[in-house]
Amino acid sequence: METELARAIGQDVTHLPATEKRDLLARLLKRLAHEIRNPLSSLGVHFQLLEEDLSALPPAVQTRLAARMGIIHGELHRLDSIVERFLKLAGPAALKLEPVAITQIVTHVCELLRPEAAARKVEILAEVPADLPPVPVDAVRLAQALLNIIINGIQAINGPGQIKVSAAQAGDHLLLRVQDTGSGIPAHELGEIFDPYFTTKAEGNGLGLWIAQQIAVAHGGDLRAENALGCGALFTLTLPLRRTE
Ligand SMILES: Nc1ncnc2c1ncn2[C@@H]1O[C@H](COP(=O)(O)OP(=O)(O)OP(=O)(O)O)[C@@H](O)[C@H]1O
Ligand SMILES: [Mg+2]
Repeated sequence: METELARAIGQDVTHLPATEKRDLLARLLKRLAHEIRNPLSSLGVHFQLLEEDLSALPPAVQTRLAARMGIIHGELHRLDSIVERFLKLAGPAALKLEPVAITQIVTHVCELLRPEAAARKVEILAEVPADLPPVPVDAVRLAQALLNIIINGIQAINGPGQIKVSAAQAGDHLLLRVQDTGSGIPAHELGEIFDPYFTTKAEGNGLGLWIAQQIAVAHGGDLRAENALGCGALFTLTLPLRRTE
């Protein structure tokens, strides 16, 4: 907990979009509230036990301690409702789901990144079949997730290379794949790259993939990474084609 908070405070999150900043803050607040809630509920249990112990004492002692017990009880109750309100406030920002042609989002994101990629001699190819059904997504969030994944691809390529963004239907899911010809991900890091603040870059925040995964999960899907056969990394973002509540 302390390290997560310390890292969060020490990191530069100014470049993150407002919704992501809010989600990050919400997550930290939620974590803090849960950490406070556990000892608080144990205090509540011990307070009750103490009340039972006191009832066995002579009435004069009970009267003398009643006011103090009342204050402790009141303050415990106050803390509990503060934590409760906190948890309600810290809920994640809601997604705005609307049926979208996935090709629109892919094209938009690829066009946005092409100039930067070209400057590094990286070519971005998009392969989206024309007959894909519309997908219920929050277009802004999904674009953010794709951006984070493709930017990582560009950064992982040293010298000329290629990033292929493709979409395909698999049963009642849509698979969005981003494959690069970069360095690939060392096997021992595959389990860590989605952790908040995990980075191997001098200037990295280690938040890009964590945010992208949060977005995928919020849609009822997921995001996975593997090393592509031959070279580079392959990220697969899965989205349900039907709305899940
Ligand atoms: N396509 C990729 N190829 C190789 N390694 C990758 C790739 N994508 C991510 N990684 C590894 O995963 C780590 C975490 O990625 P993530 O996007 O979360 O953070 P970051 O890129 O380091 O910083 P930022 O918050 O600026 O995105 C990276 O530092 C890198 O080591
Ligand atoms: Mg990144």
